[in-house]
Amino acid sequence: MTVNVLNDSTALAEAVAEKIAAFVKANPGALMCFAAGDTPQKVYLLLADKHKSGEIDLNTMWFVGLDEWVGLGNDDTGSCRQVMYSGFYDLAAIDHSRILAFDGLDENLDRQCQMIDKWITDKGGIALTALGIGMNAHVGFNEPGAVADSLAHVVALDDTTLNVGKKYFPSGNVPGKGITVGMAQLLAANELLLMASGECKAEIVKKALQGKITGAVPASLLRVAANLTVWLDSAAAAALVK
Ligand code: PGA
Repeated sequence: MTVNVLNDSTALAEAVAEKIAAFVKANPGALMCFAAGDTPQKVYLLLADKHKSGEIDLNTMWFVGLDEWVGLGNDDTGSCRQVMYSGFYDLAAIDHSRILAFDGLDENLDRQCQMIDKWITDKGGIALTALGIGMNAHVGFNEPGAVADSLAHVVALDDTTLNVGKKYFPSGNVPGKGITVGMAQLLAANELLLMASGECKAEIVKKALQGKITGAVPASLLRVAANLTVWLDSAAAAALVK
């Protein structure tokens, strides 16, 4: 595991965007899996700019959605699909045929999981994933109690996730279930990028990086991957023991 600490969230986004851009140049045809939280949004803006300026060609890549709230689709504000399409894929005009994301509206969620599992397998596995960390250390919707060998699955969301989720759903109606790419699929990636920004993440970052490796702290499971790089701003890194 390598930990990179940048001065602030802007420097963090620039560094991660550089890293992903270099990967895109070196690995055309590879599958990437990006998180839909607040932390990486600036990274996506920078990547879209790099794509539009011709520095990188995102249309040489494949994409898989990391997770989704069950019961939400394209048209729902706060859905991961909407965040990713409006904040990245459509901003960069990425061809929709290169993207597969969970449809949280499908009444057959097993079918959604099978579709995502097959897409990942068919593309040779996830080559790069860029993840945020939840206040309960979830990655995607791999919630506390996560296991390292999971594929795509539906999960009852943890209380912390439901609470934090209110920021996406001002009405207070936070969906109770999620659907997510599994830990095994993330752990198999050639490049795992874990990002955190802000002092509110400092304690959970410490727990994930320096505490026990346990499914109770899902992000800690990523430490078994040799190719994990952690990207923090100085506020998120503040509680780490040097
Ligand atoms: P955030 O979400 O980037 O909005 O803090 C992180 C997460 O829940 O994975």
